[in-house]
Formats: sequence, C-alpha cells, structure tokens
Amino acid sequence: MTLGKYILAIDQGTTSTRAILFDALGGIAAVAQQEFPQIYPQPGYVEHDAVKILQTVIYVCRAAVAKAGVSAEDVAAISITNQRETTVAWDSQTGIPVCNAIVWQCRRTAPECERLAADGMGEYIKSTTGLLIDPYFSGTKMKWILDNVPAARELAGKGRLRLGTIDSWLVFSLTEGRSFVTDISNASRTMLMDINKHCWDGALLKKLGIPESALPRIVECGGDIGICSKTLLGREIPIAGMAGDQHAALFGQCCFEKGMAKNTYGTGCFVLMNTGEEPVQSKDLLTTVAWKLNGKTVYALEGSAFNAGSALQWLRDELKIIETPQEADRLAESVEDSGGVSFVPAFTGLGAPYWDMYARGALLGITRGTQRAHVCRAVLESIAHESYDLIHVMEQEAGVNLLELRVDGGASRSRFLMQYQADVSDRHVKRPVCLETTALGSAMLAGLSVGLWDSQEELTELWREEQTFTPSCTPELRERNLARWHRAVERSRGWAEI
Ligand code: G3P
Repeated sequence: MTLGKYILAIDQGTTSTRAILFDALGGIAAVAQQEFPQIYPQPGYVEHDAVKILQTVIYVCRAAVAKAGVSAEDVAAISITNQRETTVAWDSQTGIPVCNAIVWQCRRTAPECERLAADGMGEYIKSTTGLLIDPYFSGTKMKWILDNVPAARELAGKGRLRLGTIDSWLVFSLTEGRSFVTDISNASRTMLMDINKHCWDGALLKKLGIPESALPRIVECGGDIGICSKTLLGREIPIAGMAGDQHAALFGQCCFEKGMAKNTYGTGCFVLMNTGEEPVQSKDLLTTVAWKLNGKTVYALEGSAFNAGSALQWLRDELKIIETPQEADRLAESVEDSGGVSFVPAFTGLGAPYWDMYARGALLGITRGTQRAHVCRAVLESIAHESYDLIHVMEQEAGVNLLELRVDGGASRSRFLMQYQADVSDRHVKRPVCLETTALGSAMLAGLSVGLWDSQEELTELWREEQTFTPSCTPELRERNLARWHRAVERSRGWAEI
C-alpha cells in the first residue's frame, strides 16, 4: 500500500467540530465545520449530547474529504484533538451514553470540590496531578455521574460502564468499541492521573469512588491509537495522533523549546508554556503533560481562562448586538476607548489565577451614553486583560520573561484584539499563517507517527509568521486599563450560589 498524502485532523471543540485535511506541507486542502447545541439545564450547568458530537464528527470528516476531492486511499492517518475535561459515560456493550456529557465549563461539582478541599486534599492533588481542586476537571464530574445517574451505577456494577473524555469517546466509537484509550495529555486533565508516573492514581480513584475498570488505558500522543472502522470513509484508517486541544496547539505552534509559549483564543483562552522534560510545580497555574512521544515526555505550565470567544458568541446570540465577530472588531475600532465600561467574562467562574468557581460575568461602568460599540470594545479588551493575567503569572511563577507570544484560535483573527494584547501585555504577539494550529498540531503528531514527516525540525520549517503586533501604548495608559480591569474582577467574585 502506498502512503496516503494527507492527514485528516478531527478538531472536536466546545461549540463546533471541524475536520481539516492537511497536506505534507502543512497546508490546508479542505475544512468542514458543524456547530452543535449547548445545553444549559440550569445556571452554572453546561452539557453536550455526546451522540450529536459523534454525528458532527462523522459529517465533517466525510464533508472535508469530499470537498478536497480526494479518496480515502489518500488519507494516511486520522488525528484527534478535542475540548478537554468534558466527561462522557457510556455502556461498553451498546456504545450508548447513559447521560449528557458534562462539559468542562460546568460548575455542578463545586460542592464536591469544597468537600475535597475541606478534607485537606489540595496539596496531594497538586503534587500528584499538577492540578488545583476545581469543578473544571473530569474527576468530580465522573463522581457526580456515579452518584446521580442510576444507569451508570448499575453498569458499573456489571463492569460495563465506560468513563472518559471526548478523545476516548471518539476513539471508542470510531473503532466500533475495539479501542478504549485516552492520550496522556487528556488524561492529565482528569485530576486522576499521576503526572510523574503516568498512571491512574489509586488513592484519588478511591477517594472519588471511581472504578479503575471503567477508565481507559493511557497511551502516548502518537503511534497505534486505534484503527478507524470502514464505516467512516469506506476503508480502515489508522488513528495515529491524539492530544487535548491546547496541547495540540502548543505542538502545532512548534513550541518545541523550553520557554516557548502560545495563547489560543477559542471558547476560552489558554496560555501554555513548554517547561521541558520535568514537571514544574506552580501555585496558581496548572502543571500538565504537554505531550509524550516515543517514550519522551514534555511538560507545560498552563494558565486557563474559561471564557473568551464565548463572550463574542454571547454578544451575537444572546444580546444580539453583533451579527459576526468581525462586526465587534469594527465597532471596537470605531470608538476611542470603552467609555469607562469594563467587562468580566466570568460566565462560568474564573480560572487562573483567581480560581473562583462562584465568580460570574459583570458589565460595569455603564452610563446613559454607553453604546454597543463601547460594550463590544470592553468585551474584546477583557479577553486581552485575562490573557495578560495568565502571561503575567506565568512569567512570575516560571521566572522567565516571554520575548514573544504565539497566538492562534478564532479570535486571534481580530486585529483590534491582537494589537490591544500586545499593548496591554507589553509583549510582541506573533500570529502565524495557519491559525488552525490545534488541528495542525494533532496532524503533526499523526504525521510523525506514519512517516509523513521525519522530525520536529522538519515541522519547525513549516511554521510561517503572518504578522507581529508590536506594543505601542504608554505605560500610564496600560497601568490605568489594568487597574480598572482588576477592580472589575474583584466586583465579579463570589457572586453565584450553587
Ligand atoms: O479545557 C477546555 C479547552 O480544551 C476548551 O478548548 O478550544 O473549545 O476553547 P476550546
């Protein structure tokens, strides 16, 4: 069999699923995308229908291959990258989920997190998993399912329950139940994996009452992950690369050297910095496995802000004051400043460095003269402000000075946002030609595994800069804007009751 020329990357995100066909130069041959419904059963709760997610995956894969006019024979491998932490529970025999997936943003396990903290588990969890106690991670979501969904308990009793993140769910489904695995980057977001030993931690499983038999096998980010069945594209294709979306973006940005960092402006904002082959412990950031390939593990420090692009969607879908994100950009540039308006996008609490599960969104400083342009500007500025916080704490905790920040994700298309990011963080912001870095990173992982590319050096050659945004703001203005942002953050904290 001749090696196909393309990698089909599945990027299963929080609000939509994309399939992107990459050629051997890292160029995009075709993209197909489909959104799926967000389910908000009550304030603070966020769910997805895992079957619908699978349907979008099947649809976009077929559509991308058809659009490119290539055949399944041309696809050398499939790669998967995904929204992390979102938790699915299903029956191993039928492959049917027992309940909706609990999304990473969902805050329902705040009381369980408080119990863990009260039991003094914070230190153990930090040193073992690299994470902080927060409803963000999958462990307490799994416990919630076992405690609240009778069918899950029943299946667990029969040894048929499967608990996993979206990567596991997709591999299980695409291989028709033949592979039940999770890659190490996704596993490191469950609050159940020992990041030093790379296995499930017995003490945490016991504490949360999660049977190990229900959990997937932890595998590397490349290699023989599974064989996708014929049902998808008419022939069996190896799944050869897999990583959580933020880890894949770090790889796709070719941040292969210690100290290199990227920020992805997706549903949320996630700054990750390569910290080399040893995990670096931190107070307010997360220590996580960036990727593992051929026995070699690379770690990262991560700063996570839960809402960024989702705030633009809120302007579009709920407030209906813009029709497209580009309109927010145009409006923001049409006014000199936000007119004293500050926005805090804490729809689902605040992540790093605040870790406040009870914070909620805030729009402050409105006057009778406030226009939608001011609100749009305040929302875009808030995305840069929260990213500033992540960069700032990362520099402090890692003891480095970031010379540049590589950016990607949908909202990095915004010229206003990127310039404001450079201004407010006083750092050069570098935008690559390919903004689909998440998908590209997973494709690179798969391409290395099947021999489409030989080395990371070869991949580095593929990275092309499109534009650098240079800081051009006075220190006084920067300080004033940041001071107002931090005052606004304080107002948003501790608001919700769960
Ligand atoms: O941890 C959540 C993250 O993986 C979600 O990513 O791209 O859907 O914002 P995204």
